[in-house]
Amino acid sequence: MDARRRRRVTDFVKGGGPYVWITAYDCPTARLVDEAGVDGILVGDSLGMVVLGLPNTLGVTMADMVRHTAAVARASPKALVVADMPFMSYEPGPETALKNAAKLVRAGADGVKIEGGAEYAHIVERLVKAGIPVMGHIGLNPQRILTLGGFRMVGRTEEQKRKLVEDAKALRDAGAFAIVVEFVPAPVAREITRSVDVPTVCIGSGPHCDGQILVLHDVIGLSERPPSFAKRYADVASAIKSAVAKYAEEVRAGLFPSREHYRE
Ligand code: KIV
Repeated sequence: MDARRRRRVTDFVKGGGPYVWITAYDCPTARLVDEAGVDGILVGDSLGMVVLGLPNTLGVTMADMVRHTAAVARASPKALVVADMPFMSYEPGPETALKNAAKLVRAGADGVKIEGGAEYAHIVERLVKAGIPVMGHIGLNPQRILTLGGFRMVGRTEEQKRKLVEDAKALRDAGAFAIVVEFVPAPVAREITRSVDVPTVCIGSGPHCDGQILVLHDVIGLSERPPSFAKRYADVASAIKSAVAKYAEEVRAGLFPSREHYRE
């Protein structure tokens, strides 16, 4: 992959990784993660939890996703930009999915991501046939939290493992260009990765995948309750707090604004 040009969906091939993905939801952070050299940016519906203060992703709307996708696209990243299809934007059927996916593409996404396995393969196929690249997402699907009963690991039983491998194959056959594998045991992620000829991008599922993805706010220390599988690489929360505390202290002490910060 040529690092100087914009990524295309066709750059993501089996054996070409490991691919580095991260989420971003606004223009400045999209610019920063792009300059840091990631291969893909996901405008995840995790924005509901890490940016909008919602308890889960079910309250995220198409309007939220369109606005945040457009903000990320305005950074003109070299990385591929994929936008999440939010809860109930595709479940009603292929035509609803097509209309909503088109809105995300028109907002600047290079592709969309759909949560679910074989049961949504017909939707993936419809979008891909219409020219919209689709990333699958299996394992823990946060949009199914009500039926799952919580954010828990998936794929511990033989039956679940078999279903995950079948789901990955169904998504691949439907035309998905990559598949996110969330919070499954590492040996299961390895088997899924070996079973499909498109890249798997893992989160909380171990090292035997074609790429990794993390939520930006977990990586930079801005999440209140990061999942156990995330790694914090910086403490931006402390940096923000100490900068703002210093500003408040200087205003109260009459030290800001000082002479260079205003004009007569
Ligand atoms: O919404 C999101 O950020 C995601 C990632 C966790 C894969 O779907």
